[in-house]
Amino acid sequence: MTAPLRAGDPIVVNVALGARSYDIVIGRGVLASLGQRIAVLRTGIRVAIVSDETVARHYLPATQAALGGIGAAAPVIVPPGESSKSFPVFERVCEALIEARVERGDLVLALGGGVVGDLAGFAAAVVRRGLDYVQVPTTLLAQVDSSVGGKTAIDSHHGKNLLGAFHQPVLVVADTALLDTLPAREFRAGYAEVAKYGLISDAAFFAWLETNWREIFAGGPAREHAVAVSCRAKAQTVARDERETGERALLNLGHTFGHAFEAAAGFSDRLLHGEAIALGMICAFDFSARRALAPAADAERVRHHLAAVGLPTHLSQVAGGLPDVDRLMDLIGQDKKVKRGKLTFILARGIGGAFIVPDVEAAEVRSFLEEKLAERC
Ligand SMILES: NC(=O)c1ccc[n+]([C@@H]2O[C@H](COP(=O)([O-])OP(=O)(O)OC[C@H]3O[C@@H](n4cnc5c(N)ncnc54)[C@H](O)[C@@H]3O)[C@@H](O)[C@H]2O)c1
Ligand SMILES: [Zn+2]
Repeated sequence: MTAPLRAGDPIVVNVALGARSYDIVIGRGVLASLGQRIAVLRTGIRVAIVSDETVARHYLPATQAALGGIGAAAPVIVPPGESSKSFPVFERVCEALIEARVERGDLVLALGGGVVGDLAGFAAAVVRRGLDYVQVPTTLLAQVDSSVGGKTAIDSHHGKNLLGAFHQPVLVVADTALLDTLPAREFRAGYAEVAKYGLISDAAFFAWLETNWREIFAGGPAREHAVAVSCRAKAQTVARDERETGERALLNLGHTFGHAFEAAAGFSDRLLHGEAIALGMICAFDFSARRALAPAADAERVRHHLAAVGLPTHLSQVAGGLPDVDRLMDLIGQDKKVKRGKLTFILARGIGGAFIVPDVEAAEVRSFLEEKLAERC
């Protein structure tokens, strides 16, 4: 974790899933090696790039060039934003892949953030009963979270990510230089997920982030290190519990509270996913401190660090405000089944000490949220 940081060789993290194992290659400039890395995996194939308009404008030519001599099908470009994780866009992507005669053995290449990764990954899972795919994540959130682990999905009218499949990529190439063009607000939102790995199980990493976060934002070797530590944490968790029957749930730290805030804000620009997760992690730590599980000083450290990077840390900071506690409890109930008045939460014994609590009383969450809603920053 504290190995010297130097620019240069890419960092390779393996996701150990037996026959479905794959590498995550992390580094500034690694996109240029994409074609060589694919050629090692298979030859004589074609690659179909799926991207969004914004990412394509920045990186489609460089990605096509990086494929070198590998045959490329016509790229499939979708509008940017969550609305592309929908049936109509999904249909378009699937039909385009079929029309481009992408066959079993060929590769789909998801070039973009979590939206493109989830959408293209799900299309790859179903077209011709399953095509292999490569992730080239272009947001911080996608590099540290969504491109790894094989969860793919689109949204239903009933909720987010309700239609999907577990389908692991065969390669992830995370070029940290691609994040240079990411809007600052998107970068910060993705950073919440980086901090999450420290809070779950790596107190030393969290302490390192407190000291080095500026370098991560600036784009030095600390950025690659942060992406690598995050990917390693996710890879290990996924390797032990691919289908989330147990410990993979720890990755949802801050997500039960966070999803309720995100849904309350209409999954809109009012509150990005990572911003909601920052608030959710603060709630998880404050709730843990309130139960005397975690030291209050740890909860304060979490708030202090997330505030330092510019993430929201009080519910009163959500643009347009949040609804009342009844509505928030409804939303929590939709996200998580309430079993006889009890809810499952990821709580913490301190920074780096997250654990699963399956029997939290809904009434206790309710009174906690009432207090939070009344707080002013
Ligand atoms: N599969 C998983 O395990 C998993 C995990 C977490 C989140 N997700 C999903 O990820 C999605 C959110 O992903 P996201 O936060 O990456 O959002 P996103 O894919 O919508 O990207 C955010 C915005 O940044 C733009 N963009 C992307 N890369 C850029 C770059 N390098 N330079 C400039 N602009 C760039 C995009 O066009 C978009 O407008 C959600 O749908 C969420 O459900 C999935
Ligand atoms: Zn998340």
